[in-house]
Amino acid sequence: MDETQIQKPFLRTLRGEVLDSIPFWFMRQAGRYLPEYRELRAQAGGFLDMAYNPKLACEITMQPIRRFGMDAAIIFSDILVVPHALGQHLEFVAGEGPKLDALNMADDIAKLKPEMTEATFVKVFEALSQTSAQLKSEGFDQTALIGFAGAPWTVACYMVQGGGSKDFEKVRKWAYSDPESFQKLIDILIESTAEYLRGQIKAGAEAVQIFDSWSGVLEANQFHRWVIAPTRQLIEKIKHEHPDIPIIGFPRGAGVLYRDYTRDTGITAVSTDHNLPTQWVASALQTSLPVQGNLDPIALLAGGNALKLATEKIFNDLAGGPYVFNLGHGVIKDTPVEHVEYLVDMIKAYKR
Ligand code: CP3
Repeated sequence: MDETQIQKPFLRTLRGEVLDSIPFWFMRQAGRYLPEYRELRAQAGGFLDMAYNPKLACEITMQPIRRFGMDAAIIFSDILVVPHALGQHLEFVAGEGPKLDALNMADDIAKLKPEMTEATFVKVFEALSQTSAQLKSEGFDQTALIGFAGAPWTVACYMVQGGGSKDFEKVRKWAYSDPESFQKLIDILIESTAEYLRGQIKAGAEAVQIFDSWSGVLEANQFHRWVIAPTRQLIEKIKHEHPDIPIIGFPRGAGVLYRDYTRDTGITAVSTDHNLPTQWVASALQTSLPVQGNLDPIALLAGGNALKLATEKIFNDLAGGPYVFNLGHGVIKDTPVEHVEYLVDMIKAYKR
């Protein structure tokens, strides 16, 4: 990593520094709340057509940076690229979210093709290297580029359930009733995801985030087995080749298990959801590692005084340590752009 990268405020914060200003980016900062995204989306066809087109993916990644000057750009892609690259059928149905051909039994695992993933992954790698160059050419030399993947557990949730779900009953039942075969699926995901993230780092990602959006549906022992253990193995495989890359973990909904997760996985920084009280985050997590997140996306959707108070509370409770401003989950599509502008102005004006 060269010196200019290390000086980027986002990367310095992930190394534990407490700077005068708070660096920020937002999960789902590129997406349907932005008119320029909706316009491109209307021309481009499907979501996957955009994500697999490096030029379009680069352009969409840049859109929020040009408007708001975030400290980090997250590559426009999706966590379901990994099952798709493994050969599972995937489509994004407008208004319904992702649909996959659900894995129904252990036999289906044998149909996955780990040796075929590279052909799909290279499209995302190309998008990253284009975006890395584009950030520089547009003068965003303090903006870091983030790569990402879903954690094995969350990706398995979609693969087994065949799409979104309220509580992911089917996959949880499989994990309880036949842990040996479920472990096979998790092992494939650890391996493919490690390869995917290492490729993203080689292509220009300066930090990576692991999204475990559905870690919160698991009971504590299951959480240790299917969230913490696979994440630790995944991180070992990345750090083996890239020992200095900052890795942000996001075990959404993990509650008090956030503490075990931060202690046992080897992550560099932790992204917190809005269910965690900020004072608990400060005392239980931020004393050990840099923290990101926490603003309720609904406060951003609501705007006004609710947004102001929620943001001030975060400054008050989390600005004392290394902290990256972000939401507790992604920007909701109906969020008015003016609310995002207001929040960005508040963050930029804040000085420690
Ligand atoms: O954050 C960013 O700006 C980068 C891009 C990004 C997307 N998905 C783009 C996207 C990231 C980081 C993701 C991660 C992702 N994808 C997660 C983990 C984070 C989370 O939200 O919990 C999950 C669970 C997915 C799976 C997924 N992709 C779902 C459930 C959906 C449908 C829901 C929805 O919002 O439409 C998607 C589609 C998706 N991924 C869109 C975007 C911009 C919307 C596509 C569109 O219709 O334009």
